[in-house]
Parts: sequence; structure tokens; C-alpha cells
Amino acid sequence: MAFHSRTSVPLITAALLLGTLLVYELYAPKGERTDIALYPDDLQMIEDGERLYAEHCASCHGPNLAGENNWRERKSNGRLPAPPHDESGHTWHHDSRALFNMTKHGPQFIAGDDYQSDMPAFKDVLTDREIVQILSFIKSTWPANVRETHDEIERRATVK
Ligand code: HEC
Repeated sequence: MAFHSRTSVPLITAALLLGTLLVYELYAPKGERTDIALYPDDLQMIEDGERLYAEHCASCHGPNLAGENNWRERKSNGRLPAPPHDESGHTWHHDSRALFNMTKHGPQFIAGDDYQSDMPAFKDVLTDREIVQILSFIKSTWPANVRETHDEIERRATVK
């Protein structure tokens, strides 16, 4: 009996892991990328990302990534202002796949189709690579401790 329960622990763990992966493969939105990584140390990526950020994101999120004034308070139409992408915001609370999907498909990707937001979806405007370049630029501006915390969030989010 004791032998039995010792061997079944790794087996059950393996079965659960396999089951989780299978469920994910079946129910993950079709065609969604699961391999998003950021490159905050790649100078070329950052340079391109900075230019693209100025062109596509700065009008709402601010040229210095500071977001809109009073970004925590909803506007009179019930919508949220654009939050900062610097360390004072919560961009760094999300793993890169969530950031990528929010940029590509809009916040509705996470909050549901009915969610009203001024944040546009960029799927018809930017390529996947351009989105990664912008997010890599954003990450490159964070102080070392915030970058390290984000690295840790990335490690935890990675499906082993
Ligand atoms: C027209 C204004 C506007 C533009 C342009 C815009 N955003 Fe946003 N963004 C918003 C608003 C408003 C929110 C808050 C979303 C909400 O919850 O309603 C937001 C939220 C986000 C979030 C979620 C942040 C978090 O902490 O939850 C990300 C990521 C983001 N934007 C990335 C981008 C990127 C990258 C670009 C440029 C490619 C961009 N946005 C361009 C208005 C904009």
C-alpha cells in the first residue's frame, strides 16, 4: 500500500499536467500566440519600439509613458483613462503574453467583448513583431527592480 501511494504521486502529477496542457490546447483561442518574449536589452528592438510607441501609443499613454492625468478615475462616460506604462502604472503586473494580447486585441481580450474602452485593438495596424518591439521598449525604461519583478512574473507565467 505504502509502495502504491509513493509511485502514484508522480503519476497523478504527470496526468494532471498532461490534462491541463490538453485542455489548454483545446480551449486556447485559435491562433493565439503562446510564445511571446520581450527583448529589453536588444538595442535595435528598443530603438524601433520607441519610434513605434511615439507613433501609435504616446497620444494616449503619454510621450514619457506617464499616462493620462487622474488615470485611476473613470471618465464621465464610465471609461478608464489611459494608464501609465512607467513603473507607477500596472503594466509591469502583467506577463508579456497578456500585454501582447491586450495590445493586439484590445482590453476586451481579457475583460470580455462587452467591455467599453478607448484602448484600440492594433491587430490590423501593427505586426506581432512591432508589438513585441514596443513592449520591449516599454520594459527597457523600467528601473532594475521593476524589471526583475517582471522577469519573475514571466517565469511564473511560463508553462513548464
Ligand atoms: C486612443 C487611446 C489609446 C491608444 C492610442 C493606446 N492606448 Fe493603450 N490603453 C488606453 C486606455 C484608455 C487603456 C485602459 C484600458 C481600459 O481598461 O479601459 C489602455 C490600456 C492599455 C494596456 C493595459 C495596461 C494595464 O496595465 O492594464 C496596455 C498594455 C496598452 N494599453 C498598450 C498600448 C500600446 C502598446 C499602445 C500603442 C501600440 C496603446 N496602448 C495605444 C488607451 C490607448
